[in-house]
Amino acid sequence: MTKDTIIAGLDLGTSRIKCVVAVRHEDGQVDVIGTGTHPAKGLRNGGVCNPEDAARSIRAAVEEAELMAGCEINEVFLAISGRHLESFNSYGMVRVEGETIAASDLERVVDMARAVRLPADQAILHVVPQSYVIDGQPGISRPLGMSGVRLEVAAHVILGHQEPIQQIEACCRDAGLQVVDVLLAPLAQAEVVLTPQSKDLGVVLVDIGGDTTDIAVFVEGSLQHTAVLPVGGEHITLDIKKCLNTPTVEAEHLKQTHGAVLDEDMDLDAVVEVPGVGGRRPRHIKRHALCEIIDARVDEILKLVADELQQVGYPEGLPGGVVFTGGAANLQGLCELAERVLDMPATLGGPKGLNGLSDVVQNPRYATACGLVVCGINQRHMMWYGRQKNVVPRKGIFSMFQRLFSR
Ligand SMILES: Nc1ncnc2c1ncn2[C@@H]1O[C@H](COP(=O)(O)OP(=O)(O)OP(=O)(O)O)[C@@H](O)[C@H]1O
Ligand SMILES: [Mg+2]
Repeated sequence: MTKDTIIAGLDLGTSRIKCVVAVRHEDGQVDVIGTGTHPAKGLRNGGVCNPEDAARSIRAAVEEAELMAGCEINEVFLAISGRHLESFNSYGMVRVEGETIAASDLERVVDMARAVRLPADQAILHVVPQSYVIDGQPGISRPLGMSGVRLEVAAHVILGHQEPIQQIEACCRDAGLQVVDVLLAPLAQAEVVLTPQSKDLGVVLVDIGGDTTDIAVFVEGSLQHTAVLPVGGEHITLDIKKCLNTPTVEAEHLKQTHGAVLDEDMDLDAVVEVPGVGGRRPRHIKRHALCEIIDARVDEILKLVADELQQVGYPEGLPGGVVFTGGAANLQGLCELAERVLDMPATLGGPKGLNGLSDVVQNPRYATACGLVVCGINQRHMMWYGRQKNVVPRKGIFSMFQRLFSR
């Protein structure tokens, strides 16, 4: 057991903090050995609003996972997401220095793609190469060692505000955790819920979390587009709260126990109880009425996804369809509605390829934390540009990441 590697992924969502601990055995098998989840307190919009509460919630989720795994966690791989992230596609071109394309040429060409003017408070988090062109020949995914004179790259660049990420890292330290590396949530999710075939065919990953819905489009095997929509499962809860005049906690309970999107086969006479508040007696309403509230908001979210796809050049959808992750993907009937609204196949993205507590992490809410573990084990996407090519980012680009790399 001594050579087995233990690794932990921490997903700080706006609703819940999720921690997954896995062990990679010498034979390469990965077993999930612990999970922990705790309501996220002190976190907002991908940043921190109350550091003490945030550190306490992180500690609680990690302790639950430690208890289950029977080991202590000191280091975590962390996911970043949130409304402060932005992305765009960029381009770089360089002259190849030697006879064949070397790692240094790849660094230089990606450097060109990242050479964009940034607002003062923003930093580049990831530069994900999409494909390379050598001497005018397009569609090359692995140019290393090939011969050529001119090397071009198309890359997806993800920007974020430095401050929220630094605040989150500080909260992890306060919770006794060292952040090994930071990864964009959809990149982590893709690792465990999408197959190489679907990424090649073209697929959209939609994570419906609490505060946001994250979209990531993969075409020809690489990330083409990311977007963050400012609406998620919490908005559904707030709609129920307002429409049924019931406290948030009861609205959340109703959503999770009786909620669904509308469906033709739904029993129109089924009744659910709405608890009374302030000594008032409970009320009974048609379940159909509850589902109408949910359906309206989910329909809105899906139409926003369709608009986004249309805007970025996929009005017909994607051949590989849509894969849903995030806690709100658990809503009954989501995939059926999505197939109608988006006009493409829809599936739930439960993490795959893991053993151990795989039934627990099958829930799409664990996709990000499981993806972090798998990326951590395989050293995939580790700050993508920097770690993969062993390059320390240039001074001033992002000091926090410099510290992480130089350890
Ligand atoms: N069974 C369920 N049915 C409906 N909604 C659910 C269910 N389980 C969880 N949710 C919803 O999922 C949301 C939380 O999902 P998740 O944990 O993926 O979000 P998060 O990562 O905390 O948020 P974000 O990604 O926006 O930062 C909440 O709004 C919750 O109500
Ligand atoms: Mg999330």
